[in-house]
Amino acid sequence: MQRQIFDDYESLSSAAADLVLETVRQNPGAVLCFATGNTPVGTYRQLIEKARARQADFSQCFCFGLDEWVGVPPEKSGTCHQILHEQLFKPLGIRGTQVHLFDGMTDDISAECRRMNEMIRQKGGIDLMLVGIGLNGHIGFNEPGCSPELEAHDQELHESTLASGQHYFNEPTPIAKGLTLGLAQVRAARTVLLLANGAGKASIIQKALEGPVTPEVPASHLQQHEGAVVMMDKAAAAQLTQ
Ligand code: F6R
Repeated sequence: MQRQIFDDYESLSSAAADLVLETVRQNPGAVLCFATGNTPVGTYRQLIEKARARQADFSQCFCFGLDEWVGVPPEKSGTCHQILHEQLFKPLGIRGTQVHLFDGMTDDISAECRRMNEMIRQKGGIDLMLVGIGLNGHIGFNEPGCSPELEAHDQELHESTLASGQHYFNEPTPIAKGLTLGLAQVRAARTVLLLANGAGKASIIQKALEGPVTPEVPASHLQQHEGAVVMMDKAAAAQLTQ
């Protein structure tokens, strides 16, 4: 696992955007996977600006969404669908046929998860997965206690995830469960780019990077991933001891 520490959120976002662009430049058919949340907003903004300036070509890549709220219509502001389409796919000119996201409105969760697993296998696995970290150490909706062997699954969300999740919606939205790629798929991605910014993430970043590798801190599994790159600003890195 590599660590990179940046002075501020802007330089962190710029470096993260560069890594995505470089991945697609080297491999135009790259298979990418994106999280939502507050952390990658700056990365996505810079990715769009840089992609335009460099005339980057995303027409052959394929994109997965990392997770989705169960039972929230996809067009609603705050879903992974809505955010990824508006903040990323449309501005980059990525077509619907190049994207596979969880259907949070499915009435057959097992079939939906099988469909996701099958699609990832069909595409030959994920080249670059961009993720954030929850205050409880989650990646996607892999909450503390999740088995590292799981593929796509549904997950009861923890209190802290439910509380921070409400901030993504523009009106109170009932949420209880999520659909998520599992830690087996995070661990299998060739590169996992984990982003963290702000003092609020400093304690969990220290545990994830320097504490024991344990299901209680799902992000700690990245310590054993040779292709993991953790990009942090100084505030998020402030409690690291090494
Ligand atoms: C969202 C996701 C979540 C977030 C995490 C951090 O798609 O996968 O795991 O990455 O909760 O959220 P922010 O970035 O809002 O602090």
